[in-house]
Amino acid sequence: MASLLLTQPLTATNISKSPLSGGAKPKIKPLSRRSSISCMATEVPDQPPQQARKLDRRNVLLGLGGLGAAAGLHSDHPFAAIANPVLPPDLSTCHKPTGLPTGVDTKCCPPYSGTIIDYVPPRVPTLRVRPAAHSLSKKNIEKYNKAVQLMRELPSDDPRSFTQQANVHCAYCNGAYDQVGFDPKVILQVHNSWLFFPFHRWYLYFYERILGKLIGDPTFALPFWNWDHPDGMRMPNYFTDKSSALYDEKRSNAHQPPAVVDLNFPQDKVTPPDEQQVQENLSVMYNSMVSGAKIPLLFFGSEYRAGTSSGTSAGSVERVPHTAIHVWSGSEKDREPNGEDLGNFYSAGRDPLFYSHHSNVDRMWNLWKAIEGGKRKDISDPDFLNAAFLFYDENARLVRVKVGDCLDSKSLGYVYERVDLPWLHNKSKSSKTKGKAKSVAMGIGAARAASGKRVALTDFPIKLTDSPVSVVVARPKKARSQKEKEEEEEVLVVEDIGFDHELAVKFDVYVNDEDAPGPDNAEFAGSFGNVPHKVEHGAQHKLSLTLGITDLLDEVGADDDDSIVVTLVPKQNYPVTIGSIKIVLAS
Ligand code: C2O
Repeated sequence: MASLLLTQPLTATNISKSPLSGGAKPKIKPLSRRSSISCMATEVPDQPPQQARKLDRRNVLLGLGGLGAAAGLHSDHPFAAIANPVLPPDLSTCHKPTGLPTGVDTKCCPPYSGTIIDYVPPRVPTLRVRPAAHSLSKKNIEKYNKAVQLMRELPSDDPRSFTQQANVHCAYCNGAYDQVGFDPKVILQVHNSWLFFPFHRWYLYFYERILGKLIGDPTFALPFWNWDHPDGMRMPNYFTDKSSALYDEKRSNAHQPPAVVDLNFPQDKVTPPDEQQVQENLSVMYNSMVSGAKIPLLFFGSEYRAGTSSGTSAGSVERVPHTAIHVWSGSEKDREPNGEDLGNFYSAGRDPLFYSHHSNVDRMWNLWKAIEGGKRKDISDPDFLNAAFLFYDENARLVRVKVGDCLDSKSLGYVYERVDLPWLHNKSKSSKTKGKAKSVAMGIGAARAASGKRVALTDFPIKLTDSPVSVVVARPKKARSQKEKEEEEEVLVVEDIGFDHELAVKFDVYVNDEDAPGPDNAEFAGSFGNVPHKVEHGAQHKLSLTLGITDLLDEVGADDDDSIVVTLVPKQNYPVTIGSIKIVLAS
């Protein structure tokens, strides 16, 4: 049986009883009042000085939520302003998701079990190697198909059945779980924060092990949809074979093979020739993995501690290409009003393609750490490491897993097949030095950019609807030395983004080019995107967009300037409000 793997208690220090015993509600011991009032980290008593300093720095530098995110709590709430990991849900209180699209009625709670085991990944003699989906052998395609077929055939109340596996996503992403110990109800939401990578890693881990068990092959490894490589930029063919268990009817008609995936979807221009689309995709990858993801905050997304219903900003890969592929793959609205299946959180897990999509997302985590000779590190904040989830394993046992135990995929028994990374050195050139390329790549975006307007920072908050908006933003420091650039990343922060979370809202951001020449230009800073999902209790949670621009400024020759022109280019004509824009330095 599993032993206790956890070196630190999972629960916050103020929980006196594990919430994991028999689904019983944890008891919350009230803390002394003096530790529960402050919003400024520097004033938080009982914090080790180092942690207090760290939090303070984040708040001051980034204002990305930090302890401010806890401001929604009652000030006398025991958790207010106290650092806490997000706890695993209490299955006994799972309820109908509060975040379903209007008109959709579905349940997604898992079967209840009163016994929870602290999970210890079994030692494996050899690592499983997750293969690239597009180069899977015929034999392995059959195996994958067979495994999913068997999963589909399990009774729907078996937690390992395909129905229940699909429900896992809905439950953790559409408000079926409340956070243990919080009142008024605060839901658990694993997107738009640092929980994004670890949650999906564990989710796929058990999905893979269940499939392996069903076909009696513990070496079964989940293929990854290699959308970052030109050879893998189409939906793998066998997913679109109607007789296959890997087929899902609720997908985009327009994006069936041989359509090349658009990693920055949606864009409001005519689909470019394949070759150009591939090039744009590689640029998007470079932006999300290399130039725009130099520090953990930018790659993983914002912090997310117990007590709030979501983080405040998604990491670079979660935003693009992850979100883009969801929306690109899901049905067109005239067929499925909510973009089912992949185009909406509640239904995304119903498409087998979801798991191979996320296998590649998960692969990005390994690759990100390998870039720059291992200089890039995982987050070491205890609230990240101690956050925990519940899943059913391949033996239908309910297990508790911790973020800190999944940082290295090898410790979970798997690695990824090595394939070329054509995006790794795919640095974009400035549109101004590219001359002609600029006019070719622009499409409708440019025509609209011409009708865009300049606003002043004092005009914020602003509405972004159907035309681009440009604003001059001051930099905290100009002409930074190489050392300074290595120590601190310059981060463009678009704050308080208000929008209807049920819509695939999208806008692109450019620096010093109001023509918005496309993602294949150095002026492209990144995009904001949203996989539609309703937000709980009708409240429209506001998010931030954080974009690393140190490399960009070098490339466009702007590092000696006091300020830059930031252009926001809406892509879907959905109304968005922007609270403010600023530039900060962060490490
Ligand atoms: Cu949980 Cu791709 O989303």
